[in-house]
Amino acid sequence: MLLPMQTTFTESKPGAEWWRSAVIYQIYPRSFADGNGDGIGDIPGITSRLDSLAELGIDAIWCSPLTKSPQKDAGYDVSDYRDIEPLFGTLQDFDELVAKAGERGIRIIMDLVPNHSSEEHGWFKEALAAKPGSAARNRYMFRDGKGENGELAPNNWESVFGGPAWTRITEADGTLGQWYLHIFDKSQPDFNWENPEVMEEFDSVLRFWLDRGAAGFRIDVAHGLVKEEGLPDVVLNDSTMGGQQGPDDKPKDRVSPHPFWGREGVHEINRRWRKVLDEYEDRAMCAEAWVMPLSRMATWVRPDEYHQTFNFAFLDTPWDKQKLQAVIDESIEEFSNVGAPPTWVLSNHDVIRHATRLSYDQVPKQGDGIGPDYEQPDEAKGLRRGRAASALMLGLPGGAYVYQGEELGLPEHTTLEGSVRQDPTYFRTNGERVGRDGCRVPIPWTASEPAFGFSKTGETWLPQPESFKNYARAAQEGVVGSTLELYKSLLQVRKQYALGNGSLQWRNDLVPAGAFAFQNGPVLVVVNFTNEPFALPAGELLVTTQLGLAAEGHLEADQVAWIRA
Ligand code: GLC
Repeated sequence: MLLPMQTTFTESKPGAEWWRSAVIYQIYPRSFADGNGDGIGDIPGITSRLDSLAELGIDAIWCSPLTKSPQKDAGYDVSDYRDIEPLFGTLQDFDELVAKAGERGIRIIMDLVPNHSSEEHGWFKEALAAKPGSAARNRYMFRDGKGENGELAPNNWESVFGGPAWTRITEADGTLGQWYLHIFDKSQPDFNWENPEVMEEFDSVLRFWLDRGAAGFRIDVAHGLVKEEGLPDVVLNDSTMGGQQGPDDKPKDRVSPHPFWGREGVHEINRRWRKVLDEYEDRAMCAEAWVMPLSRMATWVRPDEYHQTFNFAFLDTPWDKQKLQAVIDESIEEFSNVGAPPTWVLSNHDVIRHATRLSYDQVPKQGDGIGPDYEQPDEAKGLRRGRAASALMLGLPGGAYVYQGEELGLPEHTTLEGSVRQDPTYFRTNGERVGRDGCRVPIPWTASEPAFGFSKTGETWLPQPESFKNYARAAQEGVVGSTLELYKSLLQVRKQYALGNGSLQWRNDLVPAGAFAFQNGPVLVVVNFTNEPFALPAGELLVTTQLGLAAEGHLEADQVAWIRA
């Protein structure tokens, strides 16, 4: 199917390669807007709110998985790659979303989950019913166990969500049988990416959504598909465990390549998919590849591989002048070495929202989350720094990702009780790691309606904290200094001066030691990291995080100003 005629992409984004500078808004469908009142967001909900996103000034929407799924990992467990999950709607609803978004010049990006399927996928059911060594088993990673009776897991690999990465099955004849690999939850069996049938299946899935008008894909676990031959044990001091390190637990030097993260063989798959995307006009794919350092991550975006990759090194950097300046320099250098744009991101559905995260000196590791027993955040400080970090990020050249709710300054829900938690991490670690639910809570639209306007019945699949009413979109609309209006201004000025396609030049000579400044096109972005206010360099004040700041006024702690110098 072709994109609808009224699509205005080319008008809104002259020239090819829109993704190089795009601002892409991530929707977590369960929590964006609930059209039917069942407490879970859905596609009609998204479609009904497109005007607010158009007003915000974004270029594209990436939807976390909309495909059919038993939702054991909130959609990252797909049981049918060619259908929409009934909780979210129908294929027709999806087509309507693509068309209506297109009318507003907004592209729709799908989330593809190729590392594993759901245990309810037809192929996995077939594999369970089939015999060891069969073609059906060979689409997944089945192995005999170790030990006298195969009672021990085939190796020592651990699930990202905690516990072993292997589960033993009961064979069709009722005896205990083989084990299958699941790098994530046991409901998410890993595919065998050495099997050509798997590769062909995914080529076809890509085409299915591209034909329907998807602008591209965010590819889940893009660094995990290929496993080392023979599936050797993880060497315990080998530290490249995906994105599991927090900022202060940086990977040490690797002793040997990790047996499943970031294997060389993945690049072949990247190239294969790129060829499929290149059969279509104007499509792009972004890798979720937790591989460090950035020089390594950049190999995912070589000219014949991904268009973009999430810059998790930037996301992981604390609110610290030197560290931020260093990671910005390194990102621009490493990505431009391979001809790719840097792609900035501060929040997503797997990490603590940055308006909370940045209030801490020590944050829990990625994926661990914050629960009621953890030291509670300083909300005002988090919001101040969160807004500043956003204003810094959106002034940088390259693409940027915005996670739903961050344009409201939304904090993490840090006091969710165990009884309402849904992230498999919580269950697989017996609550030791509370997991990612805190950043996935349904977002507030209005202050006084049920579920803060998320759902007309007041139902929400995760409870919202009372404080969300202070962040409701309607309450911020048109209010000078609100986070929503700040984002609108940032995106508007960014577009006006084509900052996404610009370049960066440090101008620390213009500001005191505790601050930094960089020039992108005609715009000077000034950030104060200290408690010492200082007089802004001369120029027209275009946009600022600081309420009441005048041109050539004093920029306070954790505040940012964009100036036309
Ligand atoms: C990615 C997703 C995460 C999911 C995991 C398994 O990291 O972002 O939400 O749980 O993959 O699919």
